[in-house]
Amino acid sequence: MATVTFEGVWKRFGDFVAVKDLDLGIQDGEFMVLVGPSGCGKTTSLRMIAGLEEISDGTLKIGDRVVNDIAPKDRDIAMVFQSYALYPHMSVRDNMSFGLKLKKVPKADIEKRVAEGAGMLGLETLLDRKPRELSGGQRQRVALGRAIVREPAVFLMDEPLSNLDAKLRVETRANIARIHQRLGTTTVYVTHDQVEAMTMGTRIAVMDKGELQQVGPPQELYDHPKNIFVAGFIGSPSMNFVQVKSDGSNVAGAGMRFPIPTRFGRLEGGRELVAGFRPEHLDLGDTSDAAGIRAKADVVEYLGDEELLHVTVEGHEGDVVAVVSSEFRVKPGDVLELKLPLEKLHLFDRASGDALAWSAATAAA
Ligand SMILES: Nc1ncnc2c1ncn2[C@@H]1O[C@H](COP(=O)(O)OP(=O)(O)OP(=O)(O)O)[C@@H](O)[C@H]1O
Ligand SMILES: [Mg+2]
Repeated sequence: MATVTFEGVWKRFGDFVAVKDLDLGIQDGEFMVLVGPSGCGKTTSLRMIAGLEEISDGTLKIGDRVVNDIAPKDRDIAMVFQSYALYPHMSVRDNMSFGLKLKKVPKADIEKRVAEGAGMLGLETLLDRKPRELSGGQRQRVALGRAIVREPAVFLMDEPLSNLDAKLRVETRANIARIHQRLGTTTVYVTHDQVEAMTMGTRIAVMDKGELQQVGPPQELYDHPKNIFVAGFIGSPSMNFVQVKSDGSNVAGAGMRFPIPTRFGRLEGGRELVAGFRPEHLDLGDTSDAAGIRAKADVVEYLGDEELLHVTVEGHEGDVVAVVSSEFRVKPGDVLELKLPLEKLHLFDRASGDALAWSAATAAA
């Protein structure tokens, strides 16, 4: 097993900066998820670990070894791609064995590893089939199996679930988690899907436009996002953002006004802020120590136990979204007083987007 360490790593394609001054330490045995919108530099970062992309600047280490100039085949990594990349003319067994044969691993050892890998992934009965005789989910399991049998120091996975339908995605997600629990191999997993990131990651690194925004355990990113970007990216449905202004002791704007919680310290009058609050933290009915938000229900989406409300708030463009118990039976057109518990309120500086009074409660973990 091994650590992976980026120290001031840059990747430029001509004048374009794809990855900017990346510092990131991935611990031994960790499941690190790189997440962010399309084009933010996730695949490029992963390909630099794999050695498929040269580093423009900085140092990249696997374990204690600087790998900047080490060939991909000598890095002791195995990569799983979105496209599976199986050999079409080879059976499942041969697809899984091929890399080991090239490395001249003894035949008996290959057989043992393939049998073990196939067992872990439920591929035992499919070993003699060709890829075209498999479903998409089965193919993806073969691609995972091929990586597992190599027993690498680091697994690299680039959106391995995105070609699967929703149900298979959930199943395969659990499979990958199980394999990680069993093998404990350091894994770097790329996705643009924040749900995958939240459910799979030991820690999550959120990137935007080539820059690392925040890295931490899922709950820390959810509870203590460092800036508006992370706050809006992590969590589903997304956090609501409303423009407000401080008058020294209250913040007000868009149909709401509430005392500034003491944890934010003193905020000078006239300061322009963004208030952030998650849909699931809004509630109806009586709640103590909560700010009231006057709103009008626009669309009500019934989800069974809960309802997702799109509401309009005077002075705010766009919807505010709330998730409340469906027992309130809200109807379109209803005028509501949504309650926001003040301990769930986030405030951001409007100019910089940085969270106010930010501290990573579990940053040391
Ligand atoms: N070989 C290349 N030459 C020029 N630009 C490139 C090259 N490879 C990637 N880029 C650019 O670098 C940026 C980051 O690309 P990257 O593939 O890392 O994004 P990503 O985060 O993986 O996105 P996605 O979620 O769409 O896969 C993009 O703007 C992309 O166009
Ligand atoms: Mg990509």
